Amino acid sequence: MRDEVLEFLRENQGGFVSGQDMSEACHVSRTAIWKHIKALRSKGYKIESYTKKGYRLLEEPDLLSPLAMKKVLDTDVFGKRYVYMDITESTNLEARKLAQQGAEEGTVVVTEEQSAGRGRLSRGWYSPFGKGIWFSIILRPEFLPSEAAKCTLMAAVALTKAFHKMGLSAAGIKWPNDILVNGRKLVGILTEMSGSMEEINYIVMGIGINVKTTQEELPEELKHIGTSLAMEGIDIERTEAFKIILGELEQQYYEVLSNGFEGTLEEWKQLSVTLGQDIEVRAPDHTYEGVAMDLDTDGNLLVKVADGTIKRIVAGDVSI
Ligand code: BTN
Repeated sequence: MRDEVLEFLRENQGGFVSGQDMSEACHVSRTAIWKHIKALRSKGYKIESYTKKGYRLLEEPDLLSPLAMKKVLDTDVFGKRYVYMDITESTNLEARKLAQQGAEEGTVVVTEEQSAGRGRLSRGWYSPFGKGIWFSIILRPEFLPSEAAKCTLMAAVALTKAFHKMGLSAAGIKWPNDILVNGRKLVGILTEMSGSMEEINYIVMGIGINVKTTQEELPEELKHIGTSLAMEGIDIERTEAFKIILGELEQQYYEVLSNGFEGTLEEWKQLSVTLGQDIEVRAPDHTYEGVAMDLDTDGNLLVKVADGTIKRIVAGDVSI
């Protein structure tokens, strides 16, 4: 319904359309039209209204629609199939459904808003309309399941390089895959895998990037730990940011597939804000305190604890 109202306004862009004409065309009351206009305004559409003249669409928000992205995207595989939604529970859920139905590698699922965005360790992910890039990508690498973590580390490297390209040189990686700017989280990555012991069926890599969010808009619990490109002084259209990000992800992924993981691992180390630091890691079985020494070849974190032994951490949450 909201789409019909929007289409009607778009068709008459530049001119006014009366509430009466719209209500007739959309087969709803004028009050319903007014409610839809209010909802569109809350999503960033600039719509003028005058009692005698009706409504006029002045400006559309910077949306990640297929039309807008097709104009800028220059990747070969990532985003060739581009599934776009106004709102969904979680793009990871949608992408998993598509992957189970056989969707090809590189399929991108993106939404303007998530009603139940999911984070690591069963947390939620704040995903308000039009403020970030909330997307998932389907990968089908011929890795062993035990090597799936490489995809997440690869993504963290690609994203950090993308932010550097946008002028945000302070972006760095906190193990395993958070991207931080001066200690505040800009990006979260949630990788989910389906496969057997021997082979990966598919990987869904869900990435949430805060782009336009302001500090006031962040929920209380994130105000002092979260950040966005806008909060870091990077004024970029989401379409342009997404183009750069998909480009870097595609390049890094095929670099790993063609030349192996070693180069990416070295880049990860260069871009890390974790290595060399005193850290606390809450692993599923135990909490460790020590110095983050290095990554092993599979991307596990090596921590030197008080008695001098090195612990190999496969999964966990790091505090610096
Ligand atoms: C984290 O906890 O750091 C990971 C957050 C991952 C959020 C992204 S947003 C797009 C995709 N869909 C989800 O539900 N989660 C991921």
